[in-house]
Amino acid sequence: GLKIVTIGGGSSYTPELVEGFIKRYDELPVKELWLVDIEAGRKKLEIVGALARRMVRKAGVPMEIHLTFDRREALQDADFVTTQMRVGLLDARVKDERIPLQLGMIGQETNGAGGLFKGLRTIPVLLDIAKEIQELCPQAWLINFTNPAGMVTEALLRYSEHKKVIGVCNVPFNMHLSISKMLEVEMDRVRIDFAGLNHMVYGTHVFLDDQEVTDKVLDMLGNSEIQMTMKNIAPLPWNPRFLKSLGVVPCPYHRYYYKTKEVLEDELEAFKSGNTRAEIVKKLEEGLFELYKDENLDIKPPQLEQRGGAYYSDAACNVISSIYNDKKDIQVLNVQNKGSLVEIDYDSAVEVSCVVTKNGPVPLNMGKLPIQIQGLIQQIKSFERIGAEAAVTGSYDKALLALTINPLIPSDELAEMVLQKLLEAHKEYLPRF
Ligand code: G6P
Ligand code: MN
Repeated sequence: GLKIVTIGGGSSYTPELVEGFIKRYDELPVKELWLVDIEAGRKKLEIVGALARRMVRKAGVPMEIHLTFDRREALQDADFVTTQMRVGLLDARVKDERIPLQLGMIGQETNGAGGLFKGLRTIPVLLDIAKEIQELCPQAWLINFTNPAGMVTEALLRYSEHKKVIGVCNVPFNMHLSISKMLEVEMDRVRIDFAGLNHMVYGTHVFLDDQEVTDKVLDMLGNSEIQMTMKNIAPLPWNPRFLKSLGVVPCPYHRYYYKTKEVLEDELEAFKSGNTRAEIVKKLEEGLFELYKDENLDIKPPQLEQRGGAYYSDAACNVISSIYNDKKDIQVLNVQNKGSLVEIDYDSAVEVSCVVTKNGPVPLNMGKLPIQIQGLIQQIKSFERIGAEAAVTGSYDKALLALTINPLIPSDELAEMVLQKLLEAHKEYLPRF
């Protein structure tokens, strides 16, 4: 029987994943789902685990839910391992967002200074997990949702012996969904070629029933009242003329780069009132766990859709099912480039459309990137690579370099200031520094 292990199983997102497995039980018969967490997360794991059990019982699906703090026991003979943890919990995210804002720069959990620090805390832990996978279940695929998924996938591909690694994000799925809604058609009539990096991905071509509609979509995006975004990103409108000349569909996260000033103003407002995204999420989470405790609840509560990660289970379960069933369908994943993007190193991680076979995802050749997006993608790739190296080596200078070359950090002096403050704030979770 299929054995799936979820590390960070006590996450408030777990009901998403459980629902995803229940929905697909006919094609993906998961026999055992192991939810693993750390002792400090005991209460959350027990609450989420009990809800997961009620969900499978209600659905009438014979899936066993195992709860454990023993990661090695869980990993034994696993087929797929998913990772969704947050080193330092939401308090660390609050610092990643507030400290850069204090110095007048973007505070975000996967971009800029906050993104680097989330990477520095997370990468060593994921490398340890990958090592255990290599030892205890070398056949297993590691499906990672832990952010910053781009830098993390880069680090795993470069520094781990276990190479069966896939980074997953819900952004491409959300873009596909929003664009289909905008066009007022079912999702399966819309095909989008995706190319770029995690949280830096573009829809390079949009097709409706095989007819290219990219320009029409850009027009609608620029002029519609509804802004394509995620719950965690302010829906600031795009300049329609800019979109038209960009010629490809940006992802919601591109606002940090193309609208830095407006996003910063918005974030500073939130900073002043104690309502940064991390602080809002803390409240949302408390509410979610209150709901999860209710013994009459036996489905994923709709309130979970207030989280930016809504629909991530679809991305995760789809990739697992396609590998298991050798579906050869197309999904957008973070994988080793292997020539998919000619402007990026062969062995770096990219987020591109892939064909998913029983041997894993095969990235499609995405052709040359348009000149207007090539530079930013390359720059962020350099940031991710140097950031990953800093995480592995604990090098202060590499961390400073990563920050200074990042487009969201305005100067070398500010880079050093934010570096020192964040190192101090997170030192408990940065043993290599
Ligand atoms: C998006 C991203 C995820 C991220 C989430 C944050 O969905 O793709 O990678 O974790 O937003 O959402 P939150 O509700 O935690 O702000
Ligand atoms: Mn994501």
